[in-house]
Amino acid sequence: MARITLREDRFATEASRQEYRGLEAGDILYFPTSPPLVTDGERTFLVTQRQIDGSLYKNISYRPTEDRLRGVDQKDAAQLKRVHEIMRAFSNRSIAFAASFLKHYASAWKIDYASFRPIEEQGRKASLHSRNDLLHFDSFPTRPSHGDRLLRIFANIHPERSRIWLTSDHFEALARRFAGKVGLTRTPSRLDTWKRAVVKVGARMGLPVIDRPPYDAFMRRIHHTMKEDAAFQESCRKDRWEFPAGSAWIVFTDGTSHACLSGQYMLEQTFIVRRSGLTCPDLAPISILERIAGYPLARKIA
Ligand SMILES: [Fe+2]
Repeated sequence: MARITLREDRFATEASRQEYRGLEAGDILYFPTSPPLVTDGERTFLVTQRQIDGSLYKNISYRPTEDRLRGVDQKDAAQLKRVHEIMRAFSNRSIAFAASFLKHYASAWKIDYASFRPIEEQGRKASLHSRNDLLHFDSFPTRPSHGDRLLRIFANIHPERSRIWLTSDHFEALARRFAGKVGLTRTPSRLDTWKRAVVKVGARMGLPVIDRPPYDAFMRRIHHTMKEDAAFQESCRKDRWEFPAGSAWIVFTDGTSHACLSGQYMLEQTFIVRRSGLTCPDLAPISILERIAGYPLARKIA
């Protein structure tokens, strides 16, 4: 995995063909100085609120398409309004920046949520599968992507401290390593198809089950299996990346293995990029998993 460094003179340019390819192959596009995604006043407001009211922040998310904010435990209406304004502005600026810098994707993406992560990652209490400090590939737990890709822009808005990441091998190497364990090399049986049909009916009836196509089921299993494998986490190849205060970076987090060791106060905007909009669809996790499995994984069933 490589980190491609981009200076301020690139803010108004589009990514080159090699940069698109690198991004889709698992590289990190890194801006030591972030594009202007937040103002100084907005940054100061977000990183100082916790000191005023320790219960303010939980897990803040913003849905741009509905202009809806979630996860802010704030009783003060004026403060709540300000957080909402900042998240809206960050999301709008991130989308505008990505629409210019990654123009190729703009006609093929679905704008997803933005989030603010105010909790220090080092030592954060979480269940095994929710731990961020273990290497993994992202996949949505409840919303299948059907093979479309998860693109994320991150901005470290901590006033001083870096955010520290680890990455490991490329998606294909790790997918092959875990293929047997997650059942990717097993021919699907009629029972598998039948089980999925039952889940689909249950989901339609409103039961609390998630109808995942095989692609999303395998991505979930790979995510869990990697985190459960202590020997892998201990001994695998690791590259350490430091993202200083004020930097930003762009990653396809479904295809770049990553773990966050430490860091606090990060803003992030997610895009779901359709396979048809990629410059190198063969590098997408779904293409790699389909090559290993030998059959289509996003096929819809009736
Ligand atoms: Fe992640």
